[in-house]
Amino acid sequence: MILKAALIGNPIIRAQAQSLEPSEITLPQTQRLIDDMIKTMHEYDGVGIAANQVHIGKRIAILEVSDAHPRYPSAPKISLQVLINPEIIEYGKKIVADWEGCLSVPGLRGQVPRSVEIRVRALDRDGNRVEFTADDFHARIIQHECDHLNGRVYLDRMNDLKTLSFLDEYRRYAQSGK
Ligand code: NI
Repeated sequence: MILKAALIGNPIIRAQAQSLEPSEITLPQTQRLIDDMIKTMHEYDGVGIAANQVHIGKRIAILEVSDAHPRYPSAPKISLQVLINPEIIEYGKKIVADWEGCLSVPGLRGQVPRSVEIRVRALDRDGNRVEFTADDFHARIIQHECDHLNGRVYLDRMNDLKTLSFLDEYRRYAQSGK
């Protein structure tokens, strides 16, 4: 089922999402929520989604970048990843600003500084512990989604709102000049 996206202004976007108990992960309703989040991310052409963006205050984040993604055509392919109770346990020192958008902030893009490399610990959808290093756009998406689970959106991370652009203007001026 495709779920309705919660937009900024809705208090759930600013609320701290709650951790899942390991026993909760394999429950049919959690697995159904994960499947619905994947369908919703695809429907909105997103590259990531956090559960509070579909009105569920749980620490679940999903990300995936398909080849030639409609909204991020130059981004490298990233296989579907379901992260439960994700934690960023290390941030690389190198910070780079790049463009981000968000399903909860429709129609806008802005440049956001993020660590280029991070170390992540989480559980997968079967409840297995995973730990890995992510870099570049992959690291950016995970930082963006983990922010969501802590009630933050990318606008909070921008250190200069001058790059904030409507999508059409972004395509016309920023993307073509890149
Ligand atoms: Ni977002």
